[in-house]
Amino acid sequence: MDALQLLKTRRSVSTAFLGPPGPNADQLREILTIASRVPDHGKLTPWRFIVFEGAARAKAGEALAALYKAKNPEADDKKLAEERNRLGPAPVVIGVVSRAAPHVKIPEFEQLLSAANAAMNTVHAAHALGFTGQWVTGWIAYDEDAGRLLGLKPGERFVGFIHIGTSTIPYSDRPRPKLEDIVSYWTGPG
Ligand SMILES: Cc1cc2nc3c(=O)[nH]c(=O)nc-3n(C[C@H](O)[C@H](O)[C@H](O)COP(=O)(O)O)c2cc1C
Repeated sequence: MDALQLLKTRRSVSTAFLGPPGPNADQLREILTIASRVPDHGKLTPWRFIVFEGAARAKAGEALAALYKAKNPEADDKKLAEERNRLGPAPVVIGVVSRAAPHVKIPEFEQLLSAANAAMNTVHAAHALGFTGQWVTGWIAYDEDAGRLLGLKPGERFVGFIHIGTSTIPYSDRPRPKLEDIVSYWTGPG
């Protein structure tokens, strides 16, 4: 696909509607290589990736459901089944981790932005390879215990989970913002 066409057609499909096939090992490597090719002030590599694929997704889901139940004893079976499938049904989920930390020159904010770029590049790379992705967060991106369980080290946080697979529903885009509403041309101090 032509690069401009790629950028103009990317769209997300809700994780519930992402199934196999997903990227094979070579394609996954390609996605991760592209994901790590992002602007990075100070060349700090302030991000890393945790891949959940195959049986690891269900194993993580089982542990997340148990954690959820411990934190929410009232959770019913339906909710727990949802948690078990949190890293599914897409065949591959890439956790994008920010390693932003205090630095003499580079603000942590910029390091976090670089991680967000890595997440976006992941989505675009998946699309370029013919797959569909969705960038999601949810409670597991913000809960410290969930983070530890999913492999975070102290000081790290998830900027999101990129679910990658093939859409099981027909594509339909959503309305996009009108440029007139979001673009202005600076003409002088306000
Ligand atoms: C940081 C971040 C977190 C997001 N978390 C969720 C989420 O948890 N659940 C969800 O349905 N969409 C989430 N989204 C939105 C989707 O990634 C996506 O943008 C949305 O489905 C609209 O589709 P589009 O990418 O085609 O515009 C998140 C987006 C960002 C940037």
